[in-house]
Amino acid sequence: MHSTDKPFFRLAHISDLHFSKLTWNPSQFFSKRWLGNLNLALARKHTFDAESLTTLFPIFHDRGVDAVLITGDLTSTSHEEEFILAQQFIENLKREKFKVFTLPGNHDHYTKNAYKHKLFYQFFDATYAPPTDPVSSLSLKDDGMTAAYFGHGWWLMALDTALATCLLSSNGYFSSELEQKLEKALKELPDDHNVILINHFPLFANESPRKSLLRREALKKLLERFPKIRLYLHGHSHRHCIADLRSSNLPIILDSGSAAQKKGGTWNLIDITPQGCEIEVFKNTNKDGDTSWEPVLKNHFKW
Ligand SMILES: [Fe+2]
Ligand SMILES: [Fe+2]
Repeated sequence: MHSTDKPFFRLAHISDLHFSKLTWNPSQFFSKRWLGNLNLALARKHTFDAESLTTLFPIFHDRGVDAVLITGDLTSTSHEEEFILAQQFIENLKREKFKVFTLPGNHDHYTKNAYKHKLFYQFFDATYAPPTDPVSSLSLKDDGMTAAYFGHGWWLMALDTALATCLLSSNGYFSSELEQKLEKALKELPDDHNVILINHFPLFANESPRKSLLRREALKKLLERFPKIRLYLHGHSHRHCIADLRSSNLPIILDSGSAAQKKGGTWNLIDITPQGCEIEVFKNTNKDGDTSWEPVLKNHFKW
């Protein structure tokens, strides 16, 4: 980075932490949690290690991270004990003086009950900033979106598009109501301001249609109309990806992958500068069986 490119701010984007707690309760045979726990017992426990996420703290300090963005799936089956573990992790980050912004993934509205009672919001903030204007007074819980002004003409906007779904599906839904609210909020921002939009679901359905965001075409069309949305950050796929889609009138799209994956966990360090953004990718190389974060790739994008 050139000395003139001093970042406005430095963000760590992590996702799909999947804190887990195996619980067997007879009543859960009537809920999706039964399948979730079976999945946990058979595979997920061996794949994810959310406890190891504290290894990120020294790197965040070392690199001078200002804020940590967590794009959903904090839990595995939306169990209260899993929410408590995720909440402790976030509280620890805040104690270390990092700002933290998060939103729910499909695993955080996993059962009909968790979705109905919006359990996620009993543990995490539904708004990102004090309601000083119409945009930041929007609530993730009640409006499906919220926003915070980061300064230097940059906004963070977040969507809650997660749903409780039937047994074998993990779709999200970008409703027409949310589309209208997002459009209205974007129109209210000054023309020369920029937006980082965060959501759990990818913009494209690369995998099974049962795992995708429904009405994603409407979201894509909106992004095409508002180039002030410079970055679209998401998780859900557990697969790291950087895609510069600006030649197709879409933002730079970043999937951080899952930071809790024992093998090949990934996350992104993002510098927002006046001239562009720099994205450094960290990967868990799992040296000698221990979590070991190595920077593996750096990309620079000019605005
Ligand atoms: Fe996930
Ligand atoms: Fe997900």
